[in-house]
Amino acid sequence: MAAIELEKIVKNYGSFRAVKGIDLDVRDGEFVAFVGPSGCGKSTLLRMIAGLEEISGGTLKIDGRVVNDLEPKHRDIAMVFQDYALYPHMSVADNIGFGLKMRGMSAGERRRQVEEAADILQITQLLDRKPGQLSGGQRQRVAMGRAIVRRPKVFLFDEPLSNLDAKLRVDMRTQIKRLHSMLKTTMVYVTHDQVEAMTLADRVVILKDGELIQQGAPVDVYTVPETRFVGEFIGSPKMNVLAAETGAVDGKSTALVGETRIPLGQTRLAEDRRILVGVRPEHLIRCPTDEAMIRVTVDVLEPLGSDTMAICMLGDQEITARLAPDPDLRPGMPLDLKVKPADIHLFDASTGNRI
Ligand SMILES: Nc1ncnc2c1ncn2[C@@H]1O[C@H](COP(=O)(O)OP(=O)(O)O)[C@@H](O)[C@H]1O
Ligand SMILES: [Mg+2]
Repeated sequence: MAAIELEKIVKNYGSFRAVKGIDLDVRDGEFVAFVGPSGCGKSTLLRMIAGLEEISGGTLKIDGRVVNDLEPKHRDIAMVFQDYALYPHMSVADNIGFGLKMRGMSAGERRRQVEEAADILQITQLLDRKPGQLSGGQRQRVAMGRAIVRRPKVFLFDEPLSNLDAKLRVDMRTQIKRLHSMLKTTMVYVTHDQVEAMTLADRVVILKDGELIQQGAPVDVYTVPETRFVGEFIGSPKMNVLAAETGAVDGKSTALVGETRIPLGQTRLAEDRRILVGVRPEHLIRCPTDEAMIRVTVDVLEPLGSDTMAICMLGDQEITARLAPDPDLRPGMPLDLKVKPADIHLFDASTGNRI
C-alpha cells in the first residue's frame, strides 16, 4: 500500500509539453481515475508514475520517497494495459505465476498464490487452458491475475477495458471495483470514458490539454462542475448548454434564451451579460403550461425503455430532456418544461468558468 504524490509534474516531448505541471496527492488505498478526452495526457502521466516514461520536471513520490529516477521494477507497481500480452504457449496458471517464478518462488508457494488470485477473479476453472482458448474478458482477467500475485503497492490501469464489448466492460468494471474493495490497494485508473471513471473511482481527476481541470468525488464534480468543459464532459447524456443573456424580470435576475425567460432564483447578475445556461437532461421536468419556464418542440425521440430521450429545439438551440416513457410523445409536438433553480449551472460565455 502506498500514497502517491505528484508535485508540478511536467512532460515534454521535444518542444511539445504534453503534461503541464500537475499537482496531485493520491492517498494510500484510494481509487483515483484520470479522465479526459483522447490526447489530454492521461497515459503519459500514468506512465511517468510507472517509470516507463522519463519525468521532464517536478517531483514524484511513492510512499514518501522520491522515485523520479527509480527504475520501474523497483517501484513496486503493477500495470494493466488495454493490450495485455499473454504468453500464448503457457497455461493460464503459468501466465499468472510467471513473474513469481522469475523471482525464484518455489512451485508450491507459486501454485498457492496463483490459486488465490484465480479465486478472487473467478477464473479457477480456466487455470489449465491456454490464452487462445479464452474470451477477451477472460484474457483481461488473467492479465489482472498476473498483476495481483505480485502484491504491488500500487495498481495502475490504462484503459484496460477499451477492447471489450459493452456488456463485458460493465461486468469487468464491477470486477475491478470488487477487487479494490478486497485488496484495498492504491489504484490509479486511466479512461476516456466518464461513466467508467465515475462508477469506479473514489475521486475523479479531469484532465484537458495536459492540465488538471478539476478533481473531486464523482458526485461533487457532477453537481458543481467548475467549467463548461467539465459540465459537458461529466454526465450522460451530456449537459445542455444554452447561449443566453442576463436580464431582469420583476426585479429578479433572469436568463434570456431568445424569447424564453429562465428565472435564476437567488442568483444576482448584472444585466446584458452574455452567459451560458447549463441544464442536465435529467433535470428538465415536464409540467403544466402555466408552470413552464421553457417551451420546446420535440424533434427526435429515443426510447430506452426505462426512460425516453427527447431531443428538442428551443428556437435554434438543441436541448435534450430525459423523460418518463410516454406513448403520447410525438416528434413535432410542443413540450412544457421546468427546472429547479438549484439545477441550473451558469457559466461565463467567454471564459466558460462557473459563475
Ligand atoms: N512518444 C511521444 N512523442 C511525442 N508526443 C507524444 C508521445 N506520446 C504521447 N505524445 C503526445 O502527448 C499527448 C498526450 O498523449 P497521451 O498521454 O497518450 O494522451 P491520452 O492517454 O490522454 O490519450 C498527445 O498529444 C500525444 O500525441
Ligand atoms: Mg492513453
